[in-house]
Amino acid sequence: MNAESSGPENPLSDWSLDPFARSTIPSARRVREIWAIGGGKGGVGKSLISSSLSMALARLNQKVIAIDLDLGGANLHTTLGVDFPQLSLGDFISGRTENLKDCVISTGNPNLSIISGAQDAVNAAQLSSSQKTRLFDAFHQLDADYLIFDLGAGTGVHTIDFFLHADVGIITMLPEPTSIENAYRFIKSAYFRKLRTCPQLESVYPLIELAMDGKNGKGIKTPSDLFREVNAANPEAGLRLREQIARFQPKLILNQIRAQTDVEVGLSVKSVSKRYFGIDIDYIGYLEYETNVWQAIRRKKPFMVEFPDSRIAASIDRITNYLYRKGSAIKPSAL
Ligand SMILES: Nc1ncnc2c1ncn2[C@@H]1O[C@H](COP(=O)(O)OP(=O)(O)OP(=O)(O)O)[C@@H](O)[C@H]1O
Ligand SMILES: [Mg+2]
Repeated sequence: MNAESSGPENPLSDWSLDPFARSTIPSARRVREIWAIGGGKGGVGKSLISSSLSMALARLNQKVIAIDLDLGGANLHTTLGVDFPQLSLGDFISGRTENLKDCVISTGNPNLSIISGAQDAVNAAQLSSSQKTRLFDAFHQLDADYLIFDLGAGTGVHTIDFFLHADVGIITMLPEPTSIENAYRFIKSAYFRKLRTCPQLESVYPLIELAMDGKNGKGIKTPSDLFREVNAANPEAGLRLREQIARFQPKLILNQIRAQTDVEVGLSVKSVSKRYFGIDIDYIGYLEYETNVWQAIRRKKPFMVEFPDSRIAASIDRITNYLYRKGSAIKPSAL
């Protein structure tokens, strides 16, 4: 079970402006990019995708740290073939260790390390704002080119904040109604949380708060409805809101594809998100259902190592190359 299921269901129930804004991050940041893998639902392949993307990036000669942010449900270490280590994120969160670098464990691949998740669900779920700020600051001090966040299930406030903190937010989903529903819920939660923590939109926070209540009297159900209301109330804020909408571009990976019609589910989600929410989703690829995934998991071996010639491994390489090249256009080293 995910630790956050005992915490606030609605990510906006914690209305305080979170102090995780990028302005708190020291300018000399070592980490080039953070990718977060979420999805709203359990068992949709977040950990498999996190570990596989981490391995593919490491093969591109990038220094990668995969971080298990499934607070209380940590198992990323197993998908990377590593035993649960002595020091984990929980020790840093609780203050048992001062230095997050002490929690970085080698996977045997010189380019790839892992920080295992907190096993102590209670402490992790009670992560305070100041602990979260300390955590984000520590992430950026790590000695890595890329951090890969493996998120827990659900739309709890911490999960959404981890997702929003990343440079690249990836949503993973199965072509099944329950998973699709949860993915939409996740997208909406992340979207509203992003707006609610954007200082430039302070003047329209009451409208954003109202929009989060699905039964609000103004009939605001989607981000597009919100834009209409904000624009009518304050055209300048409407412009800023439009900017924020344009900046929110989650990526989508469809997992466990068994037929061509499944592939098209990703296209429908993309077009529905655009039409009804005004949100641009970048559908970056899909992974087929392959029976050898459980074999790798049962052997506690990374899938990419056990089955390097599989179709999943080829898709992961393609997706990683795409994101890597896209990101490299803005990396300082590429300027
Ligand atoms: N493409 C795939 N083909 C076959 N099986 C898969 C595939 N992707 C994931 N699985 C199976 O689904 C299970 C869940 O995968 P994984 O643990 O990566 O999901 P998760 O989203 O991280 O779950 P949780 O929310 O519990 O952390 C795994 O046991 C794995 O066997
Ligand atoms: Mg997982």
